[in-house]
Amino acid sequence: MSKKWAIVTGASSGIGKEFCYQLAGEYNLVLIARSEGKLIELKNEFEHHHLNQCLVLPLDLSQTDSARECLQFIQKHELKIQMLVNNAGLGHHSLFVEEEFATFQNMIHLNITALTELTHLFGQHMLAHGLESFIINVASTASFIQVPKYSVYCATKFYVRQLSEIIAYELRDTNISVSCVCPGATDTSFMQNMGKEVPQNKQWALMSPKEVVKEALTKTSQKKTTIVTGNLNKFQIILNRFVPKKLMMSLSGKVIDSSLK
Ligand SMILES: NC(=O)c1ccc[n+]([C@@H]2O[C@H](COP(=O)([O-])OP(=O)(O)OC[C@H]3O[C@@H](n4cnc5c(N)ncnc54)[C@H](OP(=O)(O)O)[C@@H]3O)[C@@H](O)[C@H]2O)c1
Repeated sequence: MSKKWAIVTGASSGIGKEFCYQLAGEYNLVLIARSEGKLIELKNEFEHHHLNQCLVLPLDLSQTDSARECLQFIQKHELKIQMLVNNAGLGHHSLFVEEEFATFQNMIHLNITALTELTHLFGQHMLAHGLESFIINVASTASFIQVPKYSVYCATKFYVRQLSEIIAYELRDTNISVSCVCPGATDTSFMQNMGKEVPQNKQWALMSPKEVVKEALTKTSQKKTTIVTGNLNKFQIILNRFVPKKLMMSLSGKVIDSSLK
């Protein structure tokens, strides 16, 4: 029997690339990100080891119409997508009023608009083909916790969690399962892309992409809706329920400030 097909956005590095590695046994992959060279390298690696078929779609998801372009690509190749991993995302660390609005606009387009449109288009596509399917939206522990200097990022991830949890409920009697994965600090280039670095003595707190994705996929297969990865992160989310909001905000701001170079 031929393999099922999955789409992974942000497949060129970090958590998205790890999703590709861990899905490769069961799925053929459509790899999406802007860095075409890195996607081709990954495709060659998979095909060299005869793991699966791969298609590369270099796309800037912060551009209008990118989600539709993705659907057209799938239709052109006559694929039935049974797994969508909406993983591409970026953050920014600065005081809200001190940053250019364009930075936030770009983040909102990638973290919210593209993810929503892809979920919508492929939700309809999955309903139409009727096979068992999964949508995984990558949010963050920042979807629970309010962190100063991460205002727009936290707000975008709160949106992703809300959207995913409601759609999961709406689709509960269908063949589509929706999960929202909430990693905490993870060892990827996410911080460097914000021009920040986690100092050596704080790196113990980072999870590896491998651990994050393993837990995410195990719990997705059990049809869990909200998946906070790692015990330290789960503890943080529980603590957040009991500590007064302003105190938690002040604490989380201090922890993040002291954790970044
Ligand atoms: N690392 C953490 O600490 C952490 C914690 C919680 C949640 N997360 C979430 O995890 C997800 C993955 O992040 P990561 O940690 O793996 O970071 P990463 O290593 O920086 O990966 C980000 C991925 O998104 C892609 N991407 C960025 N902008 C894009 C655009 N405009 N169009 C298409 N693709 C784009 C990047 O590829 P190109 O540059 O090639 O386009 C890259 O593949 C994000 O949603 C992030 O918010 C990360």
